[in-house]
Parts: sequence; structure tokens; C-alpha cells
Amino acid sequence: MEVRVANVRKEFDRFPALHDVSLDIRSGELIALLGPSGSGKTTLLRLIAGLERPTRGKIFFGEEDASLKSIQERNVGFVFQHYALFRHMTVADNIGFGLKVRPGATRPPAEEIRRRASELLDFVQLSGLEKRYPAQLSGGQRQRVALARAMAIEPAVLLLDEPFGALDAQVRRELRRWLRDIHDTTGHTTIFVTHDQEEALELADRVVVMSQGRIEQVGTADEVYDTPNSPFVYGFIGDSSSLPARVEDGQVWLAERPIGLSAPDVPAGAATLFFRPHDVELLDGCGGCIAGTVVNSRRVAETRRVELEVGGDRQRVEIELPIDHAAANKSRIAFRPRKWKLFPRAD
Ligand SMILES: Nc1ncnc2c1ncn2[C@@H]1O[C@H](COP(=O)(O)OP(=O)(O)OP(=O)(O)O)[C@@H](O)[C@H]1O
Ligand SMILES: [Mg+2]
Repeated sequence: MEVRVANVRKEFDRFPALHDVSLDIRSGELIALLGPSGSGKTTLLRLIAGLERPTRGKIFFGEEDASLKSIQERNVGFVFQHYALFRHMTVADNIGFGLKVRPGATRPPAEEIRRRASELLDFVQLSGLEKRYPAQLSGGQRQRVALARAMAIEPAVLLLDEPFGALDAQVRRELRRWLRDIHDTTGHTTIFVTHDQEEALELADRVVVMSQGRIEQVGTADEVYDTPNSPFVYGFIGDSSSLPARVEDGQVWLAERPIGLSAPDVPAGAATLFFRPHDVELLDGCGGCIAGTVVNSRRVAETRRVELEVGGDRQRVEIELPIDHAAANKSRIAFRPRKWKLFPRAD
């Protein structure tokens, strides 16, 4: 099922949680909503589910305007981070719940519901646990039961709000791979919320980066990492360093000199220079480059993270050096970013 969010605004007591959000999700896509706390991810998911109504704008499921339809009419399955299983019900009854509460004519017979619950348990690799109660399962098992329950109704769209948020890193990684496999098998259109960028980049076909109630960028993992379209996305996805700069005569300047990067297509004026700390070239001398004094250095896995003070106004910037680089305190280091991007800045 395709989902189209068209110019949606959502206010809570006049507070705009979403501004003017538009998003096209293709049928069968696995989409991640990624952003810091409070950016509007859950709100957008709840609007798609039908748990909230837009203040303005519309939501389409396929060609149909679903904005005023209920959760049941939209036929969505969802798993929320704190949406616990029913504690007094067995695993099988939890999974069958969505089918059991259907109105008479559409409700499958009890035997069929049992069979379906059992199939789904196999599918989420928990065969034989039908009779257990949620309290007798591990956290990861519970999340898998919750997912089986969401899938039992054969949803048009599967919505997951930080489904693995409460689990430890190891279990999260396993479930992540497992969710990708499940998605590839079932082909459900799936939208999941996370604030873990590794999870989003690894799992999703496309990532929707959100900030302050707005969508900043939509793209594949490669697109949002390699060609971020705003300072926010550059800073949020992956490691980044930035320095205040300016453009003059088609050259990038830091303080009072050019640093050997030409920017012929960028208008003259103030800008912020962004680059990845690992993507720098070390230089011996400094005719045109960035030079700084080491103020801090620490080992991170196989590289050395070095903090430099750059220029007269002592801007701090981080770069990554090979582990065998001494990077002694107060020593001078000259470098130039290999890949970089400038964003104009109001002075
Ligand atoms: N029912 C509500 N009433 C009032 N304000 C709300 C309500 N729900 C959300 N908000 C506000 O809307 C904004 C977006 O909230 P939302 O829950 O969508 O963020 P989020 O991106 O899911 O954050 P988190 O990562 O912390 O879950 C926040 O400022 C929040 O306080
Ligand atoms: Mg949330």
C-alpha cells in the first residue's frame, strides 16, 4: 500500500508539532523516520496510524483519502516502544487478539485464529511458546510477539515506534537483521521510528530525517550521508566537523587567508564549512590549508581523534589521524578536507 502525507500540520494546543510535512511512501518500502527527541517522529507515525487527526493537510492510503478513517478502517498494524503485550493473555491470545475483536462477519473461526497465531510464532522464530505469558519471555521475545501481533491482521501498513528501543545493543542488532528479513519476505509497507542513525541507515530503503517538526531530507542511506542538503543533516548523520568560513573570489577563506579549496559556484559571503573528520589530507607545509594546534587527542578504536584550535579566534575542530601519528599536545597540524560542503550563513 502506498502512503502519501500531503502538507500535514499538527498542532497540540496551538503548539505546532509538525509544520508542513509531505512524504510519499512507495508500496513495500521500509522507511525510517530519524531525528532527535521532540522532532515529531511519533506524531507523524500516530497521524499515519489514525491515532491523531491532522490540524491541516491530508493522508492518503493508495488513492483514497484516509484522513478521517479510523485505525481499523486503515488496517494498520503497530508496535510501540511502550505498548506492552496484554499481561493476562497467553502469547497465542495476544497474537490472535486483532482477529478475535473483528466484527462477526469478518472474524475468522477460533480454530483458524489459533492456526494463524501458531504460524506467526514460527515466523518470528518462537515456535512452541503459545501458552507462555508475557512475563515469562525475555524483552527481545516480547518485541517479536508484539510484531507477530501487529502482523496477524495482515496490515496494509506496518508502523513501528522504536520497536527495539528498550533492548540492549546486541539484541537490537539481531532483531534489526531479523526485521529486514521479515520485511523482505512479507513485503509489507513498513514505517519505523528510531533515533539511532545506525539502525536507520542499515535497515531502511529510505531515511526521512526530521528536525523541529519538519522533514529536512528524504533519501537512501548513501544520499543522506554523502549529499546532506542542510547543515542539520550534515551534523546529524555521521561524524562531522564544521568551521565558520567565507567565500571570496571563488575561494574558501578561513580568517584572513584562503585555504586551498575553490568554490567557484558558491556566492560570495559568510558560510559554514562542513567535512568528515576522517576524510582529511595531512599536509607538511601550509601555503593554503587549515592549520591548528593540538589541544586534545584520544584513541578511538583504530584511529586517533584529535581536537585542534584553528585561527585567531580559536575555533575548535576535530579530525581523525592514523593511530601511529603522535599528535603531541600543542604541536601544529596542517590539513585539508578531501570532501567538504559549504552552507551559506547569515552573518
Ligand atoms: N499529546 C501531546 N500534547 C502536547 N504536545 C505534544 C503531544 N504529543 C507530542 N507533543 C509535542 O510535539 C513535539 C513532537 O513530539 P513527538 O512525540 O512527535 O517527538 P519524537 O520525535 O517522537 O520524540 P522522541 O524521540 O523523544 O520520542 C514535542 O515537542 C512534544 O512535546
Ligand atoms: Mg517518539
